[in-house]
Amino acid sequence: MIPEIKLSNGIKIPVLGLGVYKTTDPDDMHEAVFAALDAGYRLFDTAELYENEALLGKELLRYGADRNSLFITSKLLMDHMSYDGAIKAFEQTIKDLCTDHLDMFLIHWPGQKKDRLLETWRALEDLYKDGRIKALGMSNFTIKHIDWILESCDVAPVINQVEHHPGLSEPELYDLCKKQHIMIQSWSPLMRGQLDAPPIMAAALKHKKTPAQIVLRWHIQEGFLVIPKSVHRDRIFENCDIFDFELTEDELRSIDGLNTGRSISHTRLPATYDF
Ligand SMILES: NC(=O)c1ccc[n+]([C@@H]2O[C@H](COP(=O)([O-])OP(=O)(O)OC[C@H]3O[C@@H](n4cnc5c(N)ncnc54)[C@H](OP(=O)(O)O)[C@@H]3O)[C@@H](O)[C@H]2O)c1
Repeated sequence: MIPEIKLSNGIKIPVLGLGVYKTTDPDDMHEAVFAALDAGYRLFDTAELYENEALLGKELLRYGADRNSLFITSKLLMDHMSYDGAIKAFEQTIKDLCTDHLDMFLIHWPGQKKDRLLETWRALEDLYKDGRIKALGMSNFTIKHIDWILESCDVAPVINQVEHHPGLSEPELYDLCKKQHIMIQSWSPLMRGQLDAPPIMAAALKHKKTPAQIVLRWHIQEGFLVIPKSVHRDRIFENCDIFDFELTEDELRSIDGLNTGRSISHTRLPATYDF
């Protein structure tokens, strides 16, 4: 059973879900969604950018999953950052996902234009007030962007989904989020499979777990939410089998020591990149 926590607006979210970035092959999506639901996953993380919302929606329907038991997250594409653009994009997203609401909607990338960002946030707030989005969030937001939102919002963000893994931690950002009751959801939690660093391997040997399970457990024990991606049934089961053991303080600290402060993914930084 995957545990849940309560977000600051009272909505419950599973601490672990399935990421579907790059899952665009229909057979892969079928395998991934069915395996995840069989394994007890309830949270699915997609985005307009991934061009697979319709595929995901179709497989969730095909499985016959009860919509109320699911937690579906999607993200607004940069191209649709305006009040009307966001509303229109949301309507298309829920249509593609075969649902009438989203559990969480994130602004995928903040950009550097404050007015555009705040206007877009107002659209999300209106959808939230109408009950069509249960929780509002941000993705790739830096301290500056969070301050912009917090200065003027009616509905506060409850999540910031950012790149986070043993190789990249940003303590200042996490401190601000903690103070503002914003949970961090780690993207690329598995460093896209680069899991062979000695502290990870040593803990895997000791706990008779795989390196991926050690890294996911590290996220959870340090208070982060995770959305590992896989299209393989065995790995999808493996990635959620992490709630029956505990890493020691020393093990947590030695994995913390792998932080290099470098992204494994971005060539463009959220602090400076605009579109
Ligand atoms: N908000 C954003 O800007 C943003 C950016 C990137 C990602 N995301 C979200 O975060 C999710 C996860 O991030 P990600 O897909 O970049 O990377 P990830 O979850 O860190 O890693 C996925 C890679 O690891 C492999 N893998 C999965 N389980 C494994 C295991 N147990 N052992 C060894 N390898 C394993 C997968 O291969 P197989 O599939 O072949 O198993 C895949 O190549 C995405 O799917 C997406 O939903 C959000």
